[in-house]
Amino acid sequence: MSSTKTAPVENSVFQKVISHAKEYGFVFPSSEIYDGLAAVYDYGQNGVELKNNLKMCWWKSMTQLHDNIVGIDAAILMHPKTWVASGHVASFADPMLDNKDSKKRYRADQLLEKHTDELKANGQAEKAQQVLDEMNKLLTDNDLKGLLDLIIAEKIKCPLSGTANWTEIRQFNLMFSTQLGAMAEEASEIYLRPETAQGIFVNYLNVQKTGRMKLPFGIAQIGKAFRNEIVARQFIFRMREFEQMEMQFFIQPGTQKEWYEKWKTTRLKWHKALGLPAEKLQYHDHVKLAHYADAAVDIEFEFPFGFKEMEGIHSRTDFDLTEHEKLSKKKQQYYDNDINKNYVPYVIETSVGADRLFLAHLCNAYTEEQGVDADGNTKERIFLKLHPAVAPIKAAIFPLTKKDGLPEKAMKIFDDLKLDFKVTYEEKDSIGKRYTRQDLLGTPFCITVDHQTLEDDTVTVRYRDTVVQERLPISALRAKIEHETSMKRIFEQL
Ligand code: GAP
Repeated sequence: MSSTKTAPVENSVFQKVISHAKEYGFVFPSSEIYDGLAAVYDYGQNGVELKNNLKMCWWKSMTQLHDNIVGIDAAILMHPKTWVASGHVASFADPMLDNKDSKKRYRADQLLEKHTDELKANGQAEKAQQVLDEMNKLLTDNDLKGLLDLIIAEKIKCPLSGTANWTEIRQFNLMFSTQLGAMAEEASEIYLRPETAQGIFVNYLNVQKTGRMKLPFGIAQIGKAFRNEIVARQFIFRMREFEQMEMQFFIQPGTQKEWYEKWKTTRLKWHKALGLPAEKLQYHDHVKLAHYADAAVDIEFEFPFGFKEMEGIHSRTDFDLTEHEKLSKKKQQYYDNDINKNYVPYVIETSVGADRLFLAHLCNAYTEEQGVDADGNTKERIFLKLHPAVAPIKAAIFPLTKKDGLPEKAMKIFDDLKLDFKVTYEEKDSIGKRYTRQDLLGTPFCITVDHQTLEDDTVTVRYRDTVVQERLPISALRAKIEHETSMKRIFEQL
């Protein structure tokens, strides 16, 4: 067990986002009172709301906006043969090596990629590409000796010890295993699923038959996945327990190129509709394909530590279903009555990490702005510019003071709005401090009840992003909040 405190952070903006996440109840290190558990995190009271909103937005985009996509919720534990068929037992491994002086462990491909980034930064783009091409070839051939030779030839050193005193490279399987059954002699080894996709594959005929689904159709799922990441870094970017949102789209063989392109476009559009800026999103085609894919692309987001994978779109062919058919000896064919033929469908997969999506939104939302206060002094304002539809709290309701019946009036508004929205009531501290606190949580509206409210039933509504205030009748609040925070406005763009 190692402490999360030692995790290197890449730059100061990222450091600020991490501190913000902790300080304002978004993300805490797991079991922190015991100094944390490396690469495992807990979501706090505001983090869980943001994450649930992101998940709901994905879930509805898949299962509500498409009448040919349905959802399931499969178990984390599956029959161990599942992972033999999927290829994870044989080949879900990372090539690792240790530096003998610092005793630090590294992923060979990540050491080489970092080296090529440095070459590019020094104007040696051509050389960098040569090294990357060579690395990809060696990875494809599983030539571990060749990979080590390349690391040595490129004079790559351990950033901690500064030496090139490397062990040989070995493959480490990333699956966590545990025992099923209480008695040691009867127990069998099973795995915590490293991807949610297999729960979909093994249920595809159950869903197809019971739902009378016709190809093309999709099955969506949100759930936990586990990987014993050897090099776990960058806060919640690479975790050992994380959540995936995956959708397998079952299609006729031969149509995979067309559907792959369609889902590539659809998914990028989705990220933009949720407010991630186009310039911070890019595609990255895979050179080295996973064992199951005939084409694959990542949607990368520009995190403070660079463009990195947030979602993968994979053309998985009929690999998984065919392998399950072989090992289970149960037919996985679909009868297509349009063409009177039986066949094993091909599959296009979209797979986004809920935690990486959360991190992308948090990093994107974190805003520091110079402003001028009422006395003309320059002041820095920090706020989370989250899309209102995913913000943890939709509106905060404040009485201006704690007397003259203002709290009662404000509480009445709170009691009314809470039936439709996640809202909060606050009467402690000055109104300025209360605004600041809600800005830090990303709450899009603050509603203040003052003495005028008692006379004419109007309140001030203060907007997070512009700090502009306007006076609105209480009767207009529900429609206003509904319009600004509804997911409908996202869905209309898709
Ligand atoms: N079923 C395909 C699959 O699992 P993947 O590219 O290994 O493909 C899909 O993972 C997504 O899951 C990634 O794009 C990423 O968002 C998320 N993910 C993978 N490993 C992760 C980890 N260790 N921590 C957090 N998210 C992870």
